[in-house]
Amino acid sequence: MPKGIALLVRLIVSLMIDTEFIRKEFPILERTVAGNPLVYLDNTATSQAPMRVVREIERIYTGMRANVHRGVHTLSQEMTNLQEDCREKVRQFVNAGSIEEIIFTRGTTEAINLVANSLGSTFKTGDEVILTVMEHHANIVPWQLLRDRTGIVLKVVDINDKGELDIEQYKSLFNDRTVLASFCHVSNVLGTVNPVKEMTAFAKSKGVTVLIDGAQAIPHLKVDVQDLGCDFYTFSAHKMYGPSGVGVLYGRKDLLEKMPPWQGGGEMISVVTFEHTTYADLPFKFEAGTPDYIGIAAFAKAMEFMNETGIREMEEHEMRLCRHAEEGLRNIDGIKIYGEADKKGPVISFLLDNVHPYDLGMLLDKQGVEVRTGHHCAMPLMERLGIPGTVRASFAVYNTLQEAEALITAVRRAAAILQF
Ligand code: ALA
Repeated sequence: MPKGIALLVRLIVSLMIDTEFIRKEFPILERTVAGNPLVYLDNTATSQAPMRVVREIERIYTGMRANVHRGVHTLSQEMTNLQEDCREKVRQFVNAGSIEEIIFTRGTTEAINLVANSLGSTFKTGDEVILTVMEHHANIVPWQLLRDRTGIVLKVVDINDKGELDIEQYKSLFNDRTVLASFCHVSNVLGTVNPVKEMTAFAKSKGVTVLIDGAQAIPHLKVDVQDLGCDFYTFSAHKMYGPSGVGVLYGRKDLLEKMPPWQGGGEMISVVTFEHTTYADLPFKFEAGTPDYIGIAAFAKAMEFMNETGIREMEEHEMRLCRHAEEGLRNIDGIKIYGEADKKGPVISFLLDNVHPYDLGMLLDKQGVEVRTGHHCAMPLMERLGIPGTVRASFAVYNTLQEAEALITAVRRAAAILQF
């Protein structure tokens, strides 16, 4: 299809998102902040949850709350079925090969810690792990803890001026001591969508295991873990219209089978004696203790919402708003945008002259515009950029063009106050 026609089709598809209809499922969007209509643009930190998620939590608390995999009684069986239905829905959502590859965690952070503690315990002194400078702390600190325990070496891929990874440098970091490459799919600060499929293919050609932190990708992009070819993929429900406290580690079955458990307790065992314990089969081997089964069950409703709305349509809509807001912000004197990658997610990080991000963020809050300010749990990236932090606006499917306009107007007003 010629490029012009393709663009037109994408625009029409994005216009098909009926935000008025969608927003009815999100009553929180009707509230005010400081006397102004709420403009919620901190979706990269946490998105709001639709009523179907809230109602599911209420339905479970009022009608079937019981621990999972622990009883022959009706409530426990009903709850177990709901949790395990969700596992199947996650499998379908990311196109994993089997439900044994879907491990429930508390979030992306716990999922990465699981891999660092379990697979990482097999690494030897001098083994090398490749990270990137745009990683969130959750994909840095677990590896540093492992380094301090085992003596592994961390290598870091840099970015160019547009905020894109230096792929040639990435390739040059591999050698026969490299055991793992762990990188984000989408940067939570710059919005850069990394060429993760190509990066994975390169790592795999060198026999290196790959973990992709998908926390910022899965709310916006169609993810197919088999197509990506990665060994691990991590994400959090609360960034994809689901409840907090639930996340997922996708892991390749043959790898997970070889990995030792990382937390011990109920549910992850087969037989326990004081002399010896044998472990449960996948995925339970990695799910010690009572999971957040109510959150997990409600997470299924969030994925249902995304499937119904259409992930590709969501992406088009969010990017349309993001580009509109970016264009408007660029017209304000003193605004500098961080993250100019050719392929971006719906995130805008920016600064106004030498104004501290907290000051700008507070003035936006006074106008009802909720954005995140600071280092965004990516301090090494801030150091690389030579800045203390940024103001970050991030879009979800329920945001509107009017809200993108409201952001521009609020920044313009704040700039008028702060610059004079
Ligand atoms: N990683 C989350 C963010 O970027 C917390 O806001």
